[in-house]
Amino acid sequence: MLKKTFSFSASKTNCYFDASLAQLGNVVDKERSIFITDQHVYDHHKKHFKGTRFIQIPAGETFKVQSTIDQIIDQLISFGADRKTTIIGVGGGVITDITGYVASVYMRGLPFGFVPTSILGMVDASIGGKNGIDVGNYKNMVGVIRQPGFLFYDVNLLQTLPAEEWVNGFAEVIKHAAIKDATLFRELENGSINSYRKDKKALTDLIRKNVLIKSAVVQKDEFEDSERRLLNFGHTLGHAVENVYSLPHGHAISVGIKAACLISEEMTNFKETSRVTSLLQQYGLPIDIPVDFSKVIEIMRMDKKKTRDIMNYVLLEKLGKAVIKPIPMQQLEKLLYSIARAR
Ligand SMILES: NC(=O)c1ccc[n+]([C@@H]2O[C@H](COP(=O)([O-])OP(=O)(O)OC[C@H]3O[C@@H](n4cnc5c(N)ncnc54)[C@H](O)[C@@H]3O)[C@@H](O)[C@H]2O)c1
Ligand SMILES: [Zn+2]
Repeated sequence: MLKKTFSFSASKTNCYFDASLAQLGNVVDKERSIFITDQHVYDHHKKHFKGTRFIQIPAGETFKVQSTIDQIIDQLISFGADRKTTIIGVGGGVITDITGYVASVYMRGLPFGFVPTSILGMVDASIGGKNGIDVGNYKNMVGVIRQPGFLFYDVNLLQTLPAEEWVNGFAEVIKHAAIKDATLFRELENGSINSYRKDKKALTDLIRKNVLIKSAVVQKDEFEDSERRLLNFGHTLGHAVENVYSLPHGHAISVGIKAACLISEEMTNFKETSRVTSLLQQYGLPIDIPVDFSKVIEIMRMDKKKTRDIMNYVLLEKLGKAVIKPIPMQQLEKLLYSIARAR
């Protein structure tokens, strides 16, 4: 087990890499902990919950809502959870978001940590302290920024993750490489989901590199004024596409990444779009979903990253180097329509 500590404005997060869930008792008092997990993760990994106090919720984004939080709070009360109790989320991004949120509001805040079990949970959702829930159609509308006390990475848990969730998670891995790490980008070009899945060491290294990339970005800008916005690469258009077409998140981000590369060609003279799109396809991600840009633009107009009539767009200057460029909405619309025509 390899330990690395990240310091944030108000607290520290200990990360344990190359760990096995059986060793969790070495880093936290399991007797004083309450676990939160979802039904899928529980069904696949029952043995790890034996003899623990745990709360199980149904799986899926639909349950990342206040009524689930209310039920969890009722159960925490009946377990007698108090400020000495640690709440541990074992699951994908839905579980880590819910756990961080409920642990931050129950008795005004208990210690908490995560054992992420999906690729997306490991490389993205567990890191950075944003924990929240959805309200109606608004994703992550209510929440807090509060860092987990620990992140515990056991890549063996990924063996039961469904194939489509591997693909989803790799959209964020490719995003990290594209914005921050050209060497990682080349490594990904020489691999595949299958090669990582079969090679525990390569998978452990890959997860660790991605955790370091996101943690470094968050450390520089915990409350998202500047650097942290780079993580939105592919997400401006991606979120709009996800919204209109109800695609899996990774698929929508893939479409968004391609569009951001094409816009970069115009704005920053970026020259490697074809390498990025080939890599997305190599990891099972679509790049050519027919998109009605007029609908997508309508949603983008309401995007929170837009100030007045300017959209702050994350672009690539080259592989491994992202920049934020303010683009007037009118110009952006022209660019998007010309991308649509060129397809
Ligand atoms: N807080 C943040 O900074 C942040 C960042 C990115 C995403 N998110 C959030 O993360 C969520 C998406 O995360 P996700 O893709 O992990 O979704 P998820 O938690 O719904 O997991 C996806 C599916 O995989 C199952 N699963 C997870 N681990 C498994 C395992 N080891 N074996 C078998 N099945 C397993 C889950 O039960 C679920 O059905 C969204 O709600 C998103 O808003 C948060
Ligand atoms: Zn994402």
